[in-house]
Amino acid sequence: MKDKLKSRRAIWGSKLAFILAAAGSAIGLGNIWRFPMMVGRNGGAVFVVVYLLAVALIGFTVMLAELAIGRHTLKNPVGAFEHIKPGTAWKAIGYLGVVTAVAILSYYSVVAGWAIGYIIKTAGGAFRNLGGPEAASAATSRAFETLVSNPWQVILLLLAMIGATAYIVSRGIKEGIERWSKILMPLLFLIVVFLAVRALTLPGAGAGVSFYLKPDFSKLNGTVILFAVGQAFFSLSLGLGTMLTYGSYIRRSDNLVTSAGWVSFADTAIAFLAGIIIFPTLFAIPGIEPAEGPALVFKVLPLIFSKIPLGQLFGFLFFVLLFIASLTSTISILEVPVAYLVDEKKWSRPRAAWLVGLLAFTLGVPSALSSGGDSLLTRLRIQHWMDFIFGSIALAAGALLIALFTGYVWKVKNAAQEIRCGAPRFRLEKFWSLAIRFLAPAVILIILVSQFFSQ
Ligand code: PHE
Repeated sequence: MKDKLKSRRAIWGSKLAFILAAAGSAIGLGNIWRFPMMVGRNGGAVFVVVYLLAVALIGFTVMLAELAIGRHTLKNPVGAFEHIKPGTAWKAIGYLGVVTAVAILSYYSVVAGWAIGYIIKTAGGAFRNLGGPEAASAATSRAFETLVSNPWQVILLLLAMIGATAYIVSRGIKEGIERWSKILMPLLFLIVVFLAVRALTLPGAGAGVSFYLKPDFSKLNGTVILFAVGQAFFSLSLGLGTMLTYGSYIRRSDNLVTSAGWVSFADTAIAFLAGIIIFPTLFAIPGIEPAEGPALVFKVLPLIFSKIPLGQLFGFLFFVLLFIASLTSTISILEVPVAYLVDEKKWSRPRAAWLVGLLAFTLGVPSALSSGGDSLLTRLRIQHWMDFIFGSIALAAGALLIALFTGYVWKVKNAAQEIRCGAPRFRLEKFWSLAIRFLAPAVILIILVSQFFSQ
């Protein structure tokens, strides 16, 4: 019976298909919107340094653990922990992931909705002839405020984003995601490289490059580390069971170590390049502050489009790709609660996708209205707090529990055995088994506790 169920489960067409789909999940607003925002707010280059360390030492380690748990159990996050340690409270990690997924989906889709708004704006030529530097900064700032403070507009864009996500997830994960990721991810990469080159050649770009790449270690503190580690989990889609779920569709003969390596590398490359676009442009065309927050990317990007031939076309194409990159991420987020409801509660896939989508939409409305649409919600900074609680704290807590579970409950030797199917020469085994038991839990625990006391 069990074997029959297993053989009915979807499987990625190839190792490359998994890498592209997982990279599609990882690459999204986290790289292009959230990463530059975090760099700008947390001291510039010093954040970048801590971030790179966090990805290499902790993010990669947790990703490998999630993939191993998923492929070993062939289950959704709740079912997976129950499978390895039946009848214990460990499946709470799965429930935490399901709740976190719905919460992240709600406000993430608000920002993705803004990207849809920018597709419409650039198509209508909103950023043509921006004039001199000051006029240009003022114009792009005004364009952003007008978009995000219009209550009906942001709600409608949120609805469109969640609707598109629920539709694709209701049709099943494999077909759509596999086919699209293969074409669109490389295209996004090319445009990002092109824009980065242009940004670096703007007169006055140097100040931005040093803000971004010359660390000032006096700015290093606990908050910087918390946000850098949190950003690593967010950007790599870790801590809530997304990679665990995607891992459950990988075949036994595929190499998990190199797969996790490629996904982490691709994700980091795109985030790094996004910073190369944003900061030189920001310093070359003054008028917008690096610590601007969620508005940063949306105010700065149109400035660079005004500096390249066919800028309007590139701007349009860029926002289309950003929308699609976000969509491949929202799909993977929604897939967590849906896989749980389908596997464990025997709901039909469409019912699960549409009902969870509706819930996320309802939950997203206050976030959508907190950028000027409603004065009380704006003052309460709802979207900011949603992102802090779920996007930073809950993901870190989830990753901590996953590391402890893998290291001490499932045990590294069992996990390593799973990893070795498909990777007979698991070269990083020593490093990984130490990192998952000691390094990752210690670092995450310290930052969570210190954050708790500093709040
Ligand atoms: N990693 C995605 C991004 O960078 C967001 C995400 C977070 C996706 C958590 C899945 C799980 O945009």
